Amino acid sequence: IHRINIAIDGPAGAGKSTVARKVASALQYVYIDTGAMYRAVTLKVLESGLSTDDDAAVGRLADGLDIALLPGDEAQQVRVNGENVTALLRSLEINRNVSFVARLPRVRSRMAELQRRMAQGKGVVMDGRDIGTHVLPDAELKVFLTASPRERATRRFRELEPGTEITLNQLEREIAERDRLDRERAIAPLLQAADARLLDSTGMTADEVAEQIVQWGLAAA
Ligand code: C5P
Repeated sequence: IHRINIAIDGPAGAGKSTVARKVASALQYVYIDTGAMYRAVTLKVLESGLSTDDDAAVGRLADGLDIALLPGDEAQQVRVNGENVTALLRSLEINRNVSFVARLPRVRSRMAELQRRMAQGKGVVMDGRDIGTHVLPDAELKVFLTASPRERATRRFRELEPGTEITLNQLEREIAERDRLDRERAIAPLLQAADARLLDSTGMTADEVAEQIVQWGLAAA
């Protein structure tokens, strides 16, 4: 059978990773969560005390990181220089800093290079912000996945560690701010590709959304 690449982009909390994982498993494709890669770089930036404005220093740091994505039961497992950092990537601190790291030109070019390499053999479902527009402009299927701000905040709320001190309203505001930063950055902003299908998942289950994308994928293969 003919294998294709599937790009799934959209704002924070639209359900991209849950859905992308289901699509990949249905098609026996490889799932790649590019947000986790930017989160992993952000973790290392925060640990090293570098400023998120320092493109040269953060770029050098990113160049030296060996980022490996491994399939897991729930979230995809992320290893940085051999260390499994998966459990550290979804904190409020990372949420609040990742868009500043992700706007740095050297970080973006490094991540895009790694992502293109991962997709070379086809049969990849990649989720992110700029996959259809920049990383894989030739992807055979592109989906732009959205949901209402409230539903997106609710989904992210459930992902936080129990006991995290934040209200749903505050989380909704922080998500809106992160989306604004992602949409307004100079390089590879969050944007629906001209040839992407728009899918609003508000009120749909993850299985329903995945089923729709699988059908489009089979039609495109
Ligand atoms: O998808 P997730 O919420 O984990 O992404 C975290 C952040 O990583 C985004 O808010 C964005 O700043 C950055 N990102 C990006 N390009 C991608 C994927 C994520 O800039 N392809």
